[in-house]
Amino acid sequence: TRPIVIAPSILSSDFSRLGDEVAAIDRAGADWIHLDVMDGHFVPNITFGPPIVKAIRGASAKIFDCHLMIEPCDPYLEAFAEAGCDIITVHAEATKHLDRSLQAIKALGKKAGVSLNPSTPEQVIEYVLDRLDLVLLMTVNPGFGGQAFIPAVCDKIARVKAMIGDRPIDIEVDGGISPKTAPKVVAAGANALVAGSAVFKGGTPAHYEANMAAIRDA
Ligand code: DX5
Ligand code: ZN
Repeated sequence: TRPIVIAPSILSSDFSRLGDEVAAIDRAGADWIHLDVMDGHFVPNITFGPPIVKAIRGASAKIFDCHLMIEPCDPYLEAFAEAGCDIITVHAEATKHLDRSLQAIKALGKKAGVSLNPSTPEQVIEYVLDRLDLVLLMTVNPGFGGQAFIPAVCDKIARVKAMIGDRPIDIEVDGGISPKTAPKVVAAGANALVAGSAVFKGGTPAHYEANMAAIRDA
């Protein structure tokens, strides 16, 4: 089993002070920094792109875990790699040629992830398993922070865990993760937990530290 990782999503941070927020969650004990990139096309919301990632890169030396909710994704992979992302995750639903997208990420020297919406069956990753560093299972429909966890995804986590076998692949979950839901996803086999609203609630660095500790303790 792989180490448990907590990856706060800066989607729930104060965007007017983004660099300070990244530095604060770094100091508060974040393992990875989760970056939600949305295009208003694949998902019904728009966030930020490579220039913002580049601007905050200096605020933390932790792993930048970039979740691309953009369609198409291939034309932008190089820009996100150059901006300083360490893990680049694409949605299986947002690329016509998933194998090609994953090869492109690896060719840029980055870790490659694939994300699946709650309704997407896990079989889509069967023939690309050997190209993967991470599988990101959405536990909400992507687009917004603060949505309710979808419990049906727990079965999918367990199936993906079985498919992966002893390959060194992280299973990440994203959406509605809190001290209440974290034990369920970890029991099912997830090891990387994205949390936005549950980490940033309260709004101060002391809250971030306590909020992450509460998830870890759970
Ligand atoms: C949803 C994003 C998530 C989101 C999670 O589209 O991918 O990363 O920020 O937010 P919470 O933890 O508030 O559900
Ligand atoms: Zn995300």
